[in-house]
Amino acid sequence: MREALYFHLQEQDALARLRGESLLQSPELPAKARDIYNQLVHLTLHEPSFLALRQALEAQGGIYLDSGAFSDVYLVDGVVCKLTRTDRGYPHFVRLAMEHADNPHYPRIYLHRTIDVAKGFHLTLMEPLVSIKSTRSEDLFNAQWSLSQMLFGYKKPDSATIREIRQVVAQVRALRDAKSLGLDTQTANIMYRPADGRLVVTDPYVG
Ligand SMILES: Nc1ncnc2c1ncn2[C@@H]1O[C@H](COP(=O)(O)OP(=O)(O)O)[C@@H](O)[C@H]1O
Ligand SMILES: [Mg+2]
Repeated sequence: MREALYFHLQEQDALARLRGESLLQSPELPAKARDIYNQLVHLTLHEPSFLALRQALEAQGGIYLDSGAFSDVYLVDGVVCKLTRTDRGYPHFVRLAMEHADNPHYPRIYLHRTIDVAKGFHLTLMEPLVSIKSTRSEDLFNAQWSLSQMLFGYKKPDSATIREIRQVVAQVRALRDAKSLGLDTQTANIMYRPADGRLVVTDPYVG
């Protein structure tokens, strides 16, 4: 049964590619994330809509975390599932983050699937991060503000700014220029990874 399901899913993935829908997977896709994805695809096979995916996430015991202008974000079994609508910039950012997965200031993205090309609707599975606000740390808040000035403002990273942050700033801004994207200047788009104490740029573009 399990093998049949996998075969069916591979077929679905192949069909999705034919329809021009992209599927990006990290080479180290955690088994848990793959299982969640398989279940979601299985539950929404006949109706891959935003509502159906939200219901499928809830049916899997997903906990609603937060929403932004474009997304609804859930936690399922330790994996963040983000549903995004009509955000042209987000898939470009996901690709950038996956290409630079060795840079800890990008989020670890396990899987990104375009569900509906025309409606610009995407599903992303990624690591859980925390809001700087929830940490109540003034140092982190100041570091977030400083990174936000480099990413979204005119402040240039100085030579003391660590190399990995300078790279993120340069890469995010270069991609913005290449794809004519806008920057989403909200500091909430910079989050925190408690495991290594890094600031993580999560959502720098507006479509
Ligand atoms: N990886 C994550 N872990 C935990 N919460 C997240 C994560 N990504 C996003 N969130 C929460 O969901 C909100 C909306 O996500 P965001 O990526 O900014 O999407 P958008 O702005 O496109 O709606 C964020 O402000 C944050 O509170
Ligand atoms: Mg946002």
